[in-house]
Amino acid sequence: MQVRQLNEGVWARTYLVICDETSKAAIVDPVWDYLDTYGPHLEGLDLIYALSTHTHADHISGSFALSEKYGCPYVMHASSACLQVTKYVNDGDELPLGHMNLRFHHVPGHTSDSMIIEAGDYLFTGDFLFNGDGGVGRDDLPSGRLADHWDSMKVMDRFSDEAFVCSGHEPPEVEASTLGWNRENNPIFSLASFDDYVQWQNESTQRLGAVSKIKIALPANIFAEVPENIPWLS
Ligand SMILES: [Fe+2]
Repeated sequence: MQVRQLNEGVWARTYLVICDETSKAAIVDPVWDYLDTYGPHLEGLDLIYALSTHTHADHISGSFALSEKYGCPYVMHASSACLQVTKYVNDGDELPLGHMNLRFHHVPGHTSDSMIIEAGDYLFTGDFLFNGDGGVGRDDLPSGRLADHWDSMKVMDRFSDEAFVCSGHEPPEVEASTLGWNRENNPIFSLASFDDYVQWQNESTQRLGAVSKIKIALPANIFAEVPENIPWLS
């Protein structure tokens, strides 16, 4: 099994998961803006799933376009409002990828449809969990819930220290670390109470400010329709 991160020099991360024996592949959180760069990576592979870990608010997903182009299912959690999803999954479900399985873990909080995709030793955590100081994704966007996110942290008990945390956003220079390292170094794991979590989120939200692309990206992702003019691309 191979995992490659496809986006160079930007904060948004897209992962390609490949079963070496069968060349079957799955793409996790592709970004519309970089679709042209994915073609060469997909050559010689049989792309059988385009997956989104959640309904993104900060970029337009490339999942629906790749699902159409490659004739493969567009996979999201069953609670997703996104149209053109062709395969809904629930907590505990598995989908085969060649000789391996993708397993899904529902972790509502950042959004109600957030899920972790587990593939071997890799956890694709979306914006539910980042590496180190990044903590977790914000909970103040549509369908975000602080209490749900805090509760969902219990799901991390399902995974061993050796698992790699491959999140949806990191500064370009940050590499995926293990869950064991995060248990020591990610501040969320050392918060003692929900009140402390709320305080961490409030400080984080103030630091991050407004989400610049949300009013274009969110409807595009829900309706699976890309506007004619994308301001940040023109
Ligand atoms: Fe997000």
